[in-house]
Amino acid sequence: MPDKPRYRFETRVIHSAQRPERWEGSTQVPIHQTASHLHPTAEGLSDTFAGKSTDHIYLRLSNPTNRVLEEKICDLEGGKGAVVMASGMAAVANACMALLRSGDEFVAGTSLFMSTYLLFTQVFRKYGITARLVEPTDTGAIEEAINHKTRFVYLETIGNPRMDIPDLVAAGAVAHAHGVPLLVDNTLATPYLCRPLELGADVVIHSTTKYLGGHGAAVGGVVVDGGTFDWRSERFADFAPFVDRKGSLAYLDRVWREHHINFGTTQSPFQSYLTVLGLDTLVVRMERHLSNATALARYLRKRPEVLWVNYPGLEDHPDREMAERQFQGKGFGAMITFGLKDQGTCFRFIDSLELVCHLANLGDCKTLVIHPYSSQYVSFEEATRVRLGITPGLVRLSVGIEAVEDLCDDLGRALEKSR
Ligand SMILES: Cc1ncc(COP(=O)(O)O)c(C=O)c1O
Repeated sequence: MPDKPRYRFETRVIHSAQRPERWEGSTQVPIHQTASHLHPTAEGLSDTFAGKSTDHIYLRLSNPTNRVLEEKICDLEGGKGAVVMASGMAAVANACMALLRSGDEFVAGTSLFMSTYLLFTQVFRKYGITARLVEPTDTGAIEEAINHKTRFVYLETIGNPRMDIPDLVAAGAVAHAHGVPLLVDNTLATPYLCRPLELGADVVIHSTTKYLGGHGAAVGGVVVDGGTFDWRSERFADFAPFVDRKGSLAYLDRVWREHHINFGTTQSPFQSYLTVLGLDTLVVRMERHLSNATALARYLRKRPEVLWVNYPGLEDHPDREMAERQFQGKGFGAMITFGLKDQGTCFRFIDSLELVCHLANLGDCKTLVIHPYSSQYVSFEEATRVRLGITPGLVRLSVGIEAVEDLCDDLGRALEKSR
């Protein structure tokens, strides 16, 4: 962590973990593109393997460029340690699997990113693990679903694409009252809007592919450990060797040692370098993402072709108050969903866009559009799509940082053509 005075978030996002004195004066982190690291003595390497030093051994274990990204994100989230991984899904999978054994259960908000949903409901089921899905905004339902087999509660800061916003303070309190940790995927909010560890979460997960990188050039993920959860209970007796080794960072040690290393979910140093470059501008990008999203939500609501608009910043959104409280009044995220008449209208609308990019991603500085029903969710059963709110007329917009007037013009032209 930076051995500098504690600067404000806006400053730390640029300067934390910077070590130009170790980088021959470079102001950007060097890309340590190496599979392995030389060790001058046999004893030194033995000590490193034994965990007595944090020197680097082999890329699958750790890397100096990756470590700079880990230190930066850990600082921004207010964590005690972090591990970057090959993708957001690697981070989601490792964060959960470090806690799960066959026969275990966990409780998750039903508003989940599509691959997370499949991992929880299909892949984990193969190993006898049950995900109890509940409404993320219903803390009572979260509590009711917890039982003696539960290992954690899992929520997303902003549900995608339902745009619901769980009460993280209440969920954390309920989880802790039952002796289990709260894991939060903070991808859509970023630490600029929300720092779940400060609200009572124990672990934060990100897809760095999205707003943290911001350029749509690199894929990555990270698990951040708040280091505050007490793993020395009966329920987590299997954590004893990790507690003995790493104390308050027992969980991250297990994520890294047992899962990240052995599943080989390695991040490439070049991708970490690109993500560090992107992070420098996170704050100014987020300010623009948020103001553009609010303006576009209001614009879309006025359009006659648009049947409904779902954006937490709209005055009548059910979770607006929660967003205001949890996001420190800074904004409401930069994802909007809205409804057109039917799938055909959505297709005509998307095909008529000239500026907005049609692709499967979000959090890019470019504005992105997708029709989830016919793309990410095309192979889902209809009943599941209905339950997740994925309807044939739903369009998802990830609002970028272009001139908002140009975005309104493009959307307006395409809406006219979609009729
Ligand atoms: C909320 C959320 N979590 C996790 C992921 C997975 O990230 P990645 O695509 O980097 O694996 C995504 C991807 O869209 C996401 O939106």
